[in-house]
Amino acid sequence: METPSIRRRTAEDLPACVDALAAVHACDRYPVDWPADPARWLTPSRLVEAWVAVEGRDVVGHVGLSQLDAATLEPSLAEALGTPAAPVGSITRLFVTPRRRGHGQAARLLEVARKEAANLGMSLILDVSDDSHAAIALYESAGWRRVVSARADWLNAAGEHALLHYYVSPETARKPGRAAGLYE
Ligand SMILES: CC(C)(COP(=O)(O)OP(=O)(O)OC[C@H]1O[C@@H](n2cnc3c(N)ncnc32)[C@H](O)[C@@H]1OP(=O)(O)O)[C@@H](O)C(=O)NCCC(=O)NCCS
Repeated sequence: METPSIRRRTAEDLPACVDALAAVHACDRYPVDWPADPARWLTPSRLVEAWVAVEGRDVVGHVGLSQLDAATLEPSLAEALGTPAAPVGSITRLFVTPRRRGHGQAARLLEVARKEAANLGMSLILDVSDDSHAAIALYESAGWRRVVSARADWLNAAGEHALLHYYVSPETARKPGRAAGLYE
């Protein structure tokens, strides 16, 4: 099997991204509820950039980088980060289609987004629901550090308010500031 190539997402990729997301949703309920407009869901308002892993005409993986509004950060996360001088970015909409898993695609996508955030001088975070075991294993194997956890306002597949774990990238954890010291 050839290694899929990773490149910046274009508008023309969106239908194939929606097909890939449908396969992921059917397998994992990610996202928990199928969005009314999946292409829009893949393009949140503060998206900076998105990348796709492609195999021929098929999208087999996806990741986005969003910029967060520091004023709307979850309070315990804002406290953990201190007052970041740099803009805060977030990994978003990361998934790999079920048949292409276990070959390092997500790790590669995460790395591309992490490098872009570093180039842009962003601090970088992500959140993950506590029932997303594969994703948690991925982030921890890539050196991301959990800083706080908090309940979300949306419901998980069990109908409970999801417990979100917030992680900071390896670089962000090394920056002087409160997040760096929290889990030493
Ligand atoms: C999480 C997800 C993106 C991982 O995709 P993937 O391409 O299979 O992941 P990779 O092959 O890059 O895995 C890299 C590392 O992550 C860890 N990992 C990934 N999946 C894992 C699993 N199911 N169990 C244990 N560890 C896992 C391993 O350490 C792995 O390294 P290794 O293969 O050398 O052991 C994929 O399972 C997915 O799309 N899940 C549904 C959507 C989702 O949860 N997205 C994240 C939202 S926050």
